[in-house]
Amino acid sequence: MLRHFLDLFDLTPSEAQSLLKQALDLKARSTGGQAAALLRGKTLGLLFEKPSLRTRVSFEAAVQQLGGSAIFLQAQEVGLGVRESIPDIARVLSQYLHALAVRSFSQSTIDQLAQHATIPVINALSDSAHPCQAMADLMTIREVVGRTQGVRIVFVGDGNNVARSLAVAAALLGAHLTLCGPPAYHFPAEFVDRFVQTFPDSPLEQTDDPAAALADADVVYTDVWTSMGQEQEAATRRAVFEPFRVDEALMARARPSAIFLHCLPAHRGEEVSDAVLDGPRSRVVPQAANRLHFQKALLLWLMDRPAVRLPRRSTTPIPRRRKRTG
Ligand code: CP
Ligand code: NVA
Repeated sequence: MLRHFLDLFDLTPSEAQSLLKQALDLKARSTGGQAAALLRGKTLGLLFEKPSLRTRVSFEAAVQQLGGSAIFLQAQEVGLGVRESIPDIARVLSQYLHALAVRSFSQSTIDQLAQHATIPVINALSDSAHPCQAMADLMTIREVVGRTQGVRIVFVGDGNNVARSLAVAAALLGAHLTLCGPPAYHFPAEFVDRFVQTFPDSPLEQTDDPAAALADADVVYTDVWTSMGQEQEAATRRAVFEPFRVDEALMARARPSAIFLHCLPAHRGEEVSDAVLDGPRSRVVPQAANRLHFQKALLLWLMDRPAVRLPRRSTTPIPRRRKRTG
């Protein structure tokens, strides 16, 4: 059955568990090359409206290391929704590719591509979600903290795409997230409603008090105050988020064992100080590395499915032409 990876709300806890396990297995096997041919003959397309370092390179490297290939397309060059309609692009790309990863300003563009594609579509970041990032983050937490169950994550900053997906990934895997930031930038009501309906037993806390939030944090996470596409709000946001910079004084409020994560790219000196980003509690580099391993697991889950068998033809065979005899 065709599956997409659009939002973590679409995943069951057991699917999230098995993807995480597969990612850890693939990482353990990555030096032996045993997984090398699993995607031989498969092509992944990447259709991006926004810049990227980690997502683009880790997806391209993942598919190549599994024996497949990647084609990168800039949405502007393709004329997504301008030169050609989104449904037409989805239908045509489905003829050439085996999966399509999309980075878009709007979740609805990705959803629309998925609606008309006959290949798996992967959300490689939208305005409201960054599911690949969040699953790789839970993988990092599993490795560093030793478990995900009961882990307390405090996300300091904006209730953005990264924070939302992290909250859902945490709930799927038994961890929980507190968002600590200015109330005007807490999670939107429709996200909270959907979260509460999907995970009635998982707490989702929001506060503007870093001291209280951080007291029992196992993981302190932050992301930029101004996401791609919000550049015109940068000055306003800088002023509002100033008390929420993750610096050494703020980290000192967390448990001594607490680690620091950031999806990157970081705006050094804004949401995080150099001392924290480069300090002994930071795990941002292995965190970025896990994008590769999680996405290998994801590509195998989505692409390495037995081909759909076409029904046998039941029509009467066309009779062979008789040889002419004289
Ligand atoms: N974390 C992340 O998605 O990075 P890029 O924007 O560089 O892909
Ligand atoms: N919230 C950031 C994440 C970048 C990986 C953005 O959307 O720009």
